[in-house]
Amino acid sequence: MSGQEFREISPSEFFYRHREIVGFTNPARATYTSIREFVENSLDAAEAIGVPPDIHVTLMRDEGFEFEVYRLRVEDNGSGIPGEYIPYAFGRILYGSKHTLKQMRGIFGLGGKMAILYGQITTNRPVHIVSSTGGRDVYEYRLLIDVEKNSPIIVEERIHRNGNPKWRGTVVEVFLEGDYQRSSSKIIEYFKETAMANPYAELSFIDPYGVLHLFRRSTTKLPPASREVKPHPHGVDVETLRRIINSTDCKTLKELLVKSFHRVGETIADRFLKTYSLDPYRDPASLTPGEIVDLAYALKNFEEFLPPDPSCLSPLGEELLLEGVRKELNPEFAVAIQRKPSAYSGYPFIVEVALAYGGGTPQTGRITLYRFANKIPLLYDESSDVSWKVVNQVIDWRHYKIDPTRDPVAVIVHICSTRIPYRTLGKEFIADRPEIEAEITRAVRIVARRLADYLSHKRRVEKAREYFSVYERYLRKIACFSSMLTGMDEPDIDKLLRRVKRWKGMEEAL
Ligand SMILES: Nc1ncnc2c1ncn2[C@@H]1O[C@H](COP(=O)(O)OP(=O)(O)OP(=O)(O)O)[C@@H](O)[C@H]1O
Ligand SMILES: [Mg+2]
Repeated sequence: MSGQEFREISPSEFFYRHREIVGFTNPARATYTSIREFVENSLDAAEAIGVPPDIHVTLMRDEGFEFEVYRLRVEDNGSGIPGEYIPYAFGRILYGSKHTLKQMRGIFGLGGKMAILYGQITTNRPVHIVSSTGGRDVYEYRLLIDVEKNSPIIVEERIHRNGNPKWRGTVVEVFLEGDYQRSSSKIIEYFKETAMANPYAELSFIDPYGVLHLFRRSTTKLPPASREVKPHPHGVDVETLRRIINSTDCKTLKELLVKSFHRVGETIADRFLKTYSLDPYRDPASLTPGEIVDLAYALKNFEEFLPPDPSCLSPLGEELLLEGVRKELNPEFAVAIQRKPSAYSGYPFIVEVALAYGGGTPQTGRITLYRFANKIPLLYDESSDVSWKVVNQVIDWRHYKIDPTRDPVAVIVHICSTRIPYRTLGKEFIADRPEIEAEITRAVRIVARRLADYLSHKRRVEKAREYFSVYERYLRKIACFSSMLTGMDEPDIDKLLRRVKRWKGMEEAL
């Protein structure tokens, strides 16, 4: 006997032991992360059914404990959850409806449950959920998570008749050990930035002091909805390919390629099969493990597949991004651009960048950076993020006559993708994939150029205005003086001034 003891732990147990890797490091951070996870779920649930989100968050101090405990309640007008799924959606880690190739804020099937689990292990109180999909019934549950089994324990279950008009949405309420004092600035910042990237959402937050923070929507226009797509051949690995082959009823390789992959038509499939000398009529089920590995490698490396199309993405668009930036920063000048879709490893992505100058843009002694991924604000670990690298190390702002230490400039970077290359499960910062870095750099250069144009125009106008006031003040005196010296008639000064006014730049300045 080696003396070692082997055993398996459940996903709940794993995340219970390592909760810091998903942002539950201390009571302050846990307060922020819990709010964020529930708000993200609510935003996803409203957008999934195409309604402008209405989200109300309340954080209240609960006095029944020796330590700092809060009651967190988040209510939304989203899709609601069918009754039979509620216990699992909130009581089984890694369970969720977002394991698809489609842009959503949620990805792991983890966030909401981690907040619930954290609440449970700090206060031993069940989560309370009320939800309806807008049908006849409203479901109410009180749940605990059985950490060892990774399954829900139903403490209470009730079904109510829906009212009239029928309510649709979800309310989640948890008790958790928290620290509002240390997390309040991050929480308010989170709401402000969420309002910036989601100008069509109405967000309210009542803090533990009873203060209402209201972020009103400024538009009801939603970004285009994302569609689920099939996997792109460049993003396929051996495991995915093996699963596709096991579950397909396609009888030939060619049919498999055309039916199971994104952006593969008959012609491209023929060309691919010919390039790799593969028999189009071969039964996929007959492929040996070694042949599956070769096929996955060939799919990844064949360069003629069209890039993934962006219908699975839901970017904000220049208009909405500008709307959000204007609403929250009230700048003197703002510009937004959307880059064309691009892809890394078979995953499509779109970069959108805005720039704000002056007005309410914060002046921090450096370029203020707002980072968003799939419309989620990223507030921690800024200097590890690819956008930080671009804004602070790649771009030479002097080239655009912008002084980052003095000019009030904010750069807003939004990346959307079916697979954001987050570096951690906490979704806080993005890896510097070269394709993404290149797109952000291009986009920042474009907006910086526009700001440079605006500033040089503004400086020209200011100069012209200055010159003119000098002319106006002294020209009359000079004319009078020179006519006295020369004995000639005084020229028509007004005519002269009118001519000066027509000079380039002067006209706009006056
Ligand atoms: N407010 C809500 N309205 C509707 N469905 C919800 C809501 N909150 C959670 N859900 C459902 O519960 C599932 C689990 O949520 P959870 O936050 O645990 O994971 P996720 O959002 O899928 O992924 P992530 O770990 O990235 O947050 C979601 O996939 C969704 O189907
Ligand atoms: Mg979630």
